[in-house]
Amino acid sequence: MAITWKNEKIIGAALVGFAGMLGVSAAQAQEISRAAVVAATCFTCHGTNGVSPGSIPSINEIPPDRMVSILQGFRSGQRASTVMGRHASGYTEVEIAEVANYLGNLQKQGK
Ligand code: HEC
Repeated sequence: MAITWKNEKIIGAALVGFAGMLGVSAAQAQEISRAAVVAATCFTCHGTNGVSPGSIPSINEIPPDRMVSILQGFRSGQRASTVMGRHASGYTEVEIAEVANYLGNLQKQGK
């Protein structure tokens, strides 16, 4: 289904409303949505909210600072991997920090 500008506006408004409930600004809301998009790519392999149903490790109990250092390790090649090096190299430092915080916040919410 194609997302029309109208839908985007509704989704955007919903995100800002949601962010409002959390007490964050519109600028932060944008970061949340970008982090959510990045996190969704993780969940395709690591399972919904990082709880893996298969042999790929779960990532739902990794604190944000540790997540950042693991992803940087994959990115630089210091940490051996099959797919994570390639996946992590597609993200900037900022995006890595955002997704680590996003995943950390899911943990705080008990997800
Ligand atoms: C294509 C599938 C795939 C995607 C997408 C993916 N991962 Fe991974 N991830 C793996 C695999 C497989 C491993 C095991 C290391 C390897 O072989 O690359 C792994 C390992 C990890 C580990 C180390 C876990 C541990 O206990 O050692 C972390 C942390 C991690 N991934 C985080 C993420 C994050 C965050 C994202 C999204 C930005 C992500 N992964 C996206 C497949 C994926």
